[in-house]
Amino acid sequence: MDKIRIRGGAPLSGNITISGAKNAALPLMAACLLTDKPLHLVNVPDLSDVTSMAELLTQLGGEVDFKKAAESHRMTLCAKDLSSTTAPYDLVRKMRASVLVLGPLVARAGEANVSLPGGCAIGTRPIDLHLKGLEALGAEIALDGGYIHAKAPQGLKGATFTFPIISVTGTENLLMAATLAKGETRLINAAREPEVGDLAHCLNGMGAKISGIGTDTLIIEGVNRLEGTTHHVIADRIEAGTYAMAAALTNGSVRLKGAHLALIPTVAALLQQAGVELEENDDSVLVKGPSDRLQGVDMMTEPFPGFATDLQAQWMALMSLTEGAAMITETIWENRFMHVPELCRMGANITVHGSSALVRGVQQLKGAPVMATDLRASVSLVLAGLVATGDTLINRVYHLDRGYERVEEKLRACGADIERVR
Ligand code: EPZ
Repeated sequence: MDKIRIRGGAPLSGNITISGAKNAALPLMAACLLTDKPLHLVNVPDLSDVTSMAELLTQLGGEVDFKKAAESHRMTLCAKDLSSTTAPYDLVRKMRASVLVLGPLVARAGEANVSLPGGCAIGTRPIDLHLKGLEALGAEIALDGGYIHAKAPQGLKGATFTFPIISVTGTENLLMAATLAKGETRLINAAREPEVGDLAHCLNGMGAKISGIGTDTLIIEGVNRLEGTTHHVIADRIEAGTYAMAAALTNGSVRLKGAHLALIPTVAALLQQAGVELEENDDSVLVKGPSDRLQGVDMMTEPFPGFATDLQAQWMALMSLTEGAAMITETIWENRFMHVPELCRMGANITVHGSSALVRGVQQLKGAPVMATDLRASVSLVLAGLVATGDTLINRVYHLDRGYERVEEKLRACGADIERVR
């Protein structure tokens, strides 16, 4: 199994090009099931989660052609004829975002059988809201043998659905389903994450009628059919935030090409409070570490535009070297502190109290062998390794490959001493 070895200490300096967003690309790929025409996606990141989604779409009868070029990967997807409406356990358990095929399949084929995803490292992750929303649109849902069986033989009907709590993929599933429903659908308390907006823009490009994009109320006027389109996937704000924190931690200076502060408003504000300099130009953000030590800044994860939970572990790595202390509160996932014991093995001083963690800044982290537990936890260990004295050896790096494209290459280009070992 691959490992990553990092020798810490070098301040990062140079340019990093931000890839297309994983969490935008996955629902965009699933949207190909809504039409028999080709969907062209530009700026698709080359990640194992993208490969898993392509595998699932192929299993359903779609054709996926992924052309990888240096700067801009292009993917053409075409689900001319659906050969199956079943998303099997073996594929869904590998990647929970597979549940994103549920809405499009019911809307286009009138039925879907999708394996229940089960729990995962960061929380129980129920999908009850996806199912309640589809029921509101007229689907009949039954759970049997570990599968969701959804049926709408006469087609879906527009309705108003209020999310009791904000769900990103729940909003995306219902948004896709509602595009082909009869009449108007209103999704209230919808997720406002930029990836939801990106999907809505692409669907409109395919002929859907969605308004309220970027707000918490999405209004969808159903249409009879959707066409193909060409769509550019937005930049990965989580990758941008991660490398901004890497630059800050190592007291470096890194230009993030393709990054936009509007996609990480709260993260940007908190970085500045911590003493990090951010300078936005046309299509890049220059991040400079503080002239003095980083300051401890409290943080709470929240749905967009709040601080993204997918940057919580990285923030914790950053806060572990500050002057003073920081309280980090996780409000989205109930078990997203698995990086804490690993960071502590590297010398961080962190105590967990329920859903909050108190991080007391230390002068120095020390390299150690550590274990990656999920995607964002893994990258927080990379950040810690970049600034620790000596060698850090990160095990189970397959988690990283799910969401970070060419991570060693990007960091090495900025002077990091990092390599993959087998
Ligand atoms: C998306 O997951 C992201 N995944 C996650 O990124 C991210 O952490 C999360 O949103 C929150 O921002 C993708 O976009 C593919 P939710 P999702 O439904 O949609 C509860 C990463 O590292 N809930 O917004 O699955 C749920 O338990 C990943 O890239 C229900 O109770 O998350 C959680 O507490 C990890 N019932 C909260 O809502 C439901 O039916 C938010 O979850 C659905 C969700």
